[in-house]
Amino acid sequence: MSKRKILVTSALPYANGSIHLGHLVEYIQTDIWVRFQKMRGHTVYYVCADDTHGTPIMLRAEKEGITPEALIARVHSEHLGDFNGFHIQFDNYYSTHSAETRHFSEDIYAKLKTAGLITVRSIEQLYDPVKNMFLPDRFVKGECPKCSAKDQYGDSCEVCGAAYTPTELKNPYSAVSGAKPISKFSEHYFFNLSDSRCVDFLRHWACEGDHLQPEAANKMREWVGEAGENKLSDWDISRDAPYFGFEIPDVPGKYFYVWLDAPVGYMGSFKNLCEREKIQFDEFWQPQSDAELYHFIGKDILYFHALFWPAMLQNAKYRTPTKIFAHGFLTVNGEKMSKSRGTFITAESYLRQGLNPEWLRYYYAAKLNSTLEDIDLNLEDFVARVNSDLVGKFINIASRCAGFISKRFAGRLVDGAQYHVLQKMVNEHFATWRPAVIEQAFEAREFSAAIRQIMKFADEANEMIHELAPWEIAKNPDRTDDLQRTCSLGIQLFYLLSRYLKPILPGTVQQIEAFLNCAPLTWPQLNDDQTVSDLLLPAGHIINIYQHLMTRIDSKQIEALTAANTQSLAPVTQNTPVRHAEKQQHAIVPIAETISIDDFSKIDLRIAKIVNAEHVPGAEKLLKLTLDIGSEQRMVFAGIKSAYDPEQLKGRLTVMVANLAPRQMKFGLSEGMVLAAGGGNSGELFILSPDTGAQPGMRVK
Ligand code: MSP
Ligand code: ZN
Repeated sequence: MSKRKILVTSALPYANGSIHLGHLVEYIQTDIWVRFQKMRGHTVYYVCADDTHGTPIMLRAEKEGITPEALIARVHSEHLGDFNGFHIQFDNYYSTHSAETRHFSEDIYAKLKTAGLITVRSIEQLYDPVKNMFLPDRFVKGECPKCSAKDQYGDSCEVCGAAYTPTELKNPYSAVSGAKPISKFSEHYFFNLSDSRCVDFLRHWACEGDHLQPEAANKMREWVGEAGENKLSDWDISRDAPYFGFEIPDVPGKYFYVWLDAPVGYMGSFKNLCEREKIQFDEFWQPQSDAELYHFIGKDILYFHALFWPAMLQNAKYRTPTKIFAHGFLTVNGEKMSKSRGTFITAESYLRQGLNPEWLRYYYAAKLNSTLEDIDLNLEDFVARVNSDLVGKFINIASRCAGFISKRFAGRLVDGAQYHVLQKMVNEHFATWRPAVIEQAFEAREFSAAIRQIMKFADEANEMIHELAPWEIAKNPDRTDDLQRTCSLGIQLFYLLSRYLKPILPGTVQQIEAFLNCAPLTWPQLNDDQTVSDLLLPAGHIINIYQHLMTRIDSKQIEALTAANTQSLAPVTQNTPVRHAEKQQHAIVPIAETISIDDFSKIDLRIAKIVNAEHVPGAEKLLKLTLDIGSEQRMVFAGIKSAYDPEQLKGRLTVMVANLAPRQMKFGLSEGMVLAAGGGNSGELFILSPDTGAQPGMRVK
């Protein structure tokens, strides 16, 4: 088989939110496919990045009192932590806020401009006269023009489902400042998607070729229209300052819209990898490239990937994607993920609760196929499936046989004549078993089919062991050879199975490789004259002592997980003033995970005297505190402005975390943190005070 060159991407998650189990459908799916291709020996690169630009990220940073750069740096490390925790193995995880992405965005834009595919047009938009910014649809709120429901977004009504434009809202207000928006004209830059060069290309590329799944191609035919029709509109690719993004060259105050540079981030991340690892970037991106390029995405962003992106690449003289693999959305227990039901589960909370990430990888694999259908995480089924398949069928094979091999045969599997008998048994029993079926299923992203095949093999292996009953043989001192052969058979079958599960369970299989004392498992290529028994461990191979490989899920762990993700939402009805709703709310936050005294003693808490407190110009929530902790003075920005007047605080003693890493905020460096109770949605806050007699600098333990 010839070696393929493959570049794979997953969609770039936004840098203003946490990774949740919905996102993980995509990253786990992609990671399994990439690991499978790497195991087969192909040259594969898997790149991704944070999607860092746009208004929501700019405003979020402002709200937190930090720079957008500080926000995206923090989220980047959170995202990486989550991905590592779930064994998502990127070759590069980068950021769209990078020199490389800027370079390719400018380059593509310049080429489109030279080709005459960029036009400037004046458009009218809602503008916040207090905040001095144009408002994206989501940042205009008001009454629904159809049903008059209050506080609806500028694009659609969550009560009656109507879709409209922000200018149609009744009594509109800016979600940023609360001001009444005004209409204002400004010049925008458009990519001429309606140009025949784009339309003709897309009709061919997206509607006729095999670049998309059949359902996706159908959608494209709807969107692009028949020959002669022109359904595509030009795409607005600019936004006015203030905006966090790349300024358009030679157009001060205008920025590329986040969705222009987001997919370019795939190139940016890959370029960054190429520089580091001396890979030829052009081999992958030139128009005649023989490398394959695959984008894994959710069905919600098909429009951007199947229309805008290929049209941009084509007209800027780059290669276009080989295929776009879109997947459906995650539901939990048959419904949309919900914060009030505790099913909006973050990756971080799943790991923090001590759940095994490979349970989820397995469950998703067992559900995934190559279509755009949604996939459901049914929590009861999750527990049952993982316990019965992974622990009951797979791990069980090893745990029933390994003990005898270690205790009675010093870890040695059979050799000589016994090995030939074993080989013969494997060949006879698994004569009809076709690993190629599993391989084809993985290649086609039909992971559920691959798992069905793998588990069928596991069932047969279990039956065989069950019938041979080594635990019975062990009782008879005259049957030592039988015992060694039977247990060796179990271990060999376990070894055979492990490689097919390796793309899904990389962590467990790594432990298995250590236990079986074997080289890292690769994907086997069986020639026509070879059989399953050619894949076994060699005769007389010595294995290590069996260590526990995977525990069962206890449904209590799932209850704890949903409890930890439950946000009690105040019943906000249309006429309830917001303040009233907040007062009703007394969320009892569940007690956090147990930690050891060593964990606790890492926190250096000190009595601090607030020697000065002042307002911070421009900050909505922060006060600037100068704290005396005996040995030194610290500057801390504390989010307590809503509850305290600076004058009240001067001279008071409180408690601070003195060994917290300093944090660069928009207004300066914050060198620690003061402790306060409350701070939930109620807005109430109470800073701590020590009993009389405590002195600045005393340690709190
Ligand atoms: N930033 C854009 C993508 C830019 S790609 C050049 C974006 N980000 S996202 O964070 O909202 O989503 C990242 C990916 O996760 C998308 O492919 C999206 O479809 C997927 N999912 C987000 N929520 C999901 C579910 N609930 N279920 C399945 N996939 C989900 O879109
Ligand atoms: Zn409505």
